[in-house]
Parts: sequence; C-alpha cells; structure tokens
Amino acid sequence: MAAASADRADVPPVTTARLAAEGLGAYYGPTRVVRDVTASFTPGRVTAIVGPSGCGKSTLLRCLNRLHETGRDARTTGRVWLDDVDVYAPDVSAVAVRRQVALVMQRPTPFPTLSIEQNVVAGLQAAHARPTADLRAVTEDALRRAALWSEVSHRLRARPGTLSEGQQQRLCIARALATSPRVLLLDEPTASLDPLSVQKIEELVYGLRDRVTVVMVTHNMQQAARVSDETAFLLHGELVEMAATTTLFTTPGDPRTEAYITGRFG
Ligand SMILES: Nc1ncnc2c1ncn2[C@@H]1O[C@H](COP(=O)(O)OP(=O)(O)O)[C@@H](O)[C@H]1O
Ligand SMILES: [Mg+2]
Repeated sequence: MAAASADRADVPPVTTARLAAEGLGAYYGPTRVVRDVTASFTPGRVTAIVGPSGCGKSTLLRCLNRLHETGRDARTTGRVWLDDVDVYAPDVSAVAVRRQVALVMQRPTPFPTLSIEQNVVAGLQAAHARPTADLRAVTEDALRRAALWSEVSHRLRARPGTLSEGQQQRLCIARALATSPRVLLLDEPTASLDPLSVQKIEELVYGLRDRVTVVMVTHNMQQAARVSDETAFLLHGELVEMAATTTLFTTPGDPRTEAYITGRFG
C-alpha cells in the first residue's frame, strides 16, 4: 500500500459523488461543537479527518448524513451538499440521505440475532424488496468489497457473534456497502481492533476509492497518512486546514496543524 497517492491524481474515479459542507455548525443544547465548517470532499477519494479527542470529529461526520439531528437537543446549522442537493432542504428525507451517505461507527454494531447474510442485506430489505437470487449476489459482492468473503462464505447463516471484532467491523462495512451508498463515512473504524484487523480494514478502505467517496475520522495520523488522499485537521470544532495528505503532513500551512502533527498536543 502506497502512502497518499499523488500517482493516482491523473486516474479519474468511477464515482462522481460530490459531498461538501458549507458553513456547517453543530450544537448540543446551547453548546456549539462544530463551527462554520466549509469543506469539499473529492469524489472517489479518501479524506481523513484528524484532530484531538473531543474536537468534534464524530459530530461533524454525523452532520454529513443527518444523524446528528436525531440526538436529544442536537441541532445543525449551515448546509451539506450531495452533488447539487442540499441534504438539509425541507423537502429532502433524512432517511434517503442516510442511505446515500452511509456511516460505520467506531465499534462494530452488527444485529446480533440476524445471520451474517441477513446483516449484510438488512439495509437493503428495509429500502426495497428484492428477489432472493439478487440478494445473494449483493451479499457476495458487498462481502468481497469488505474483504470478508473468503472468511465467511462457508458460514453465511452463522450469527455475527461467532466472528472476531475485526470481522464484525468488516461485516458492518459490507452492510453499509450493500445499499450502494455514494458516500461512506467511517468513524474511527479501527479504534477497537487488533493490528492485523487494522491492516485489513486500512487495505479495504484504500481499495474502495474510485467507486465511493470516503470520509474517515481517525485520531491516528499514521493511519491517515497510509490511506487518505486528503486530510482535514479539526480543532475545537473548527476546520483549521484541509490539504493533500502529503502536503498537510510535510508542509502544513497553519502553525496549529504543525504543532499537532509534531505531537506538541493532542
Ligand atoms: N450527546 C452529547 N451531548 C452533549 N455533548 C456531547 C455529546 N456528544 C459529544 N459531545 C461533546 O461534543 C464535543 C465533540 O465531541 P465529538 O464529536 O464526539 O468529538 P471527537 O469525535 O473529536 O472526539 C465534545 O466536547 C463532547 O464532549
Ligand atoms: Mg469521536
């Protein structure tokens, strides 16, 4: 796996999904934790969001697919664009947005009483009925893209509890991919995993680029450097700087970014 991929810049991605935040703010009650974030996420590329604990990374991610507003006393201001659609426009359904902009949480959240196979297609079945043969193909494709197929193909009817935590997280990624989202949001997807599982997930995220636009929160800067094309640095809810990953880590434009990446705080 290469570091951030300047060599890929001339290969156009397959997806054109453009996600952008414009003047985005997020509150818990009166407390503002995301401040006026304007950022555009390149289609078919991986953008990492880094920053110290509590700086608003998860909240920002949850604003991008309208999940933040489901919290108690939680409010969002500003706009999020998916292509030319303002996902916060009154006539846009939050459920439809979440189908197109899928989110994978920090800890694996499979449905414990469903089989592996049922977990993969759970989102699809909620969305629209499909013939069984079709579901099989979707299941296999999603599990292959999540780099889990070879480990579970012989036990699709088993419960997810029989899988390791790393496999469960890849199952959740497969479940997200099964609905063919245009954007995949990952919130510290490897935070609770062992090094081998971390490596598998990093490789699969790297392999997803081109077909889906990925935004991944991580507090691990080495991880950002390994898998992302672009990196955004968030501090106290504010987007300090966003740039090509190699640029941000070698020649940051803001002294606060430099202080963070050289380990002076965070
Ligand atoms: N449900 C909540 N209610 C109130 N405050 C919250 C809630 N969730 C997070 N916060 C606060 O919002 C800020 C940003 O949190 P978060 O987005 O989780 O940061 P990060 O993901 O960067 O660690 C923190 O100060 C956190 O304590
Ligand atoms: Mg977080």
